[in-house]
Amino acid sequence: MKAMVIAGAGIDKLEIQEREPEPLGPFDLRIRMRASSLNFRDLSMVKSGGGRPGLVPNSCGTGEVIETGAEVQRFNVGDRVTPTFFKNWIAGPPTVEGLSSALGAGRHDGCLRAEMVLNQESVVATPGYLSDKEAATLPCAALTAWRGIVEEGNLRAGQTVLVQGTGGVSIFALQFAKLFGAEVIATSSSDEKLERAVALGADHTINYRTTPEWAKRAREITDGRGIDHIVEVGGADTLQQSIEAVSLGGNIHIIGVLTGRVNDVAVSSIFRQNAKLHGITVGSRVMFENMIRAMTLHQTRPVIDQEFDFDDSRSAFELMERGGHFGKIVINLPR
Ligand SMILES: NC(=O)c1ccc[n+]([C@@H]2O[C@H](COP(=O)([O-])OP(=O)(O)OC[C@H]3O[C@@H](n4cnc5c(N)ncnc54)[C@H](OP(=O)(O)O)[C@@H]3O)[C@@H](O)[C@H]2O)c1
Repeated sequence: MKAMVIAGAGIDKLEIQEREPEPLGPFDLRIRMRASSLNFRDLSMVKSGGGRPGLVPNSCGTGEVIETGAEVQRFNVGDRVTPTFFKNWIAGPPTVEGLSSALGAGRHDGCLRAEMVLNQESVVATPGYLSDKEAATLPCAALTAWRGIVEEGNLRAGQTVLVQGTGGVSIFALQFAKLFGAEVIATSSSDEKLERAVALGADHTINYRTTPEWAKRAREITDGRGIDHIVEVGGADTLQQSIEAVSLGGNIHIIGVLTGRVNDVAVSSIFRQNAKLHGITVGSRVMFENMIRAMTLHQTRPVIDQEFDFDDSRSAFELMERGGHFGKIVINLPR
């Protein structure tokens, strides 16, 4: 069974290895993986060496059940399934055990391999209208955006949502915000990417390179009210702007630190604005299933920028490192 492994720190240390198939427990599924998608976190793992030699990267993928354990009842051979980001967070609030079960980190190998063995509870049924490569984009980026603005933020029609940049999480947040009848402001370093965001439904755009003080512009767009939901993926370069842009009682969904960690936070501005800061770590299987129902009803299609062959996985990580993408990057897995 072919697996892409992290053999050291750096994209050039990714290498293909041949591995023995894993044993199948009574409640397990053997899954022939079809596609995997990249997240910024996977790139960080690859660049840092992954914490342990031999880790298979990538939290996200999708495949087909090829064998079931004796006690399996949820799925049959031939079913298309998509692993959840956390193997052990099924429902309810986050737990220490659940949050330490992420795929593609620690002792849990990820999805960049030909075959996986997972407990039947650690996957969802893949929506029939999505291709394998589309479904492979959902477990981390889509669910993170969904949990922030929908599950924690209770997004309502008529509210405003600001998405930072045009990476995986932000493009899903844009799509979900439009699903809920919200007004969307998209930011990007690229006018060409902003045009693509408008084609996806963004109502307003701000180029954060030419308008680094974008909070002021966001308040102008909303007639001074400020933004109800900010998808905060930037960290050091964006959090202060987010605090200045948020509406009274509005939500900042704290998701990423693309531009580095934040050392100084304007606490007084946060309480003056009565802002709610939601720390987000992806979501549970139940949240994933909620999201899939909404996507299926509206036939929401993930935005894929480029796809790569398994043998060319390094090029996929290099594209993400350059930030050249819009939406998601996918790797097709060996047949
Ligand atoms: N907490 C969680 O559960 C969770 C889950 C998923 C992701 N994350 C985190 O969320 C962040 C985004 O992840 P991702 O997978 O969506 O990454 P990604 O696809 O690599 O997104 C990269 C994009 O971010 C934008 N960006 C970079 N600097 C920016 C800035 N100063 N202001 C606004 N946008 C900026 C750029 O967009 P333009 O090219 O358009 O400028 C860039 O293309 C990462 O830090 C990731 O680790 C966290």
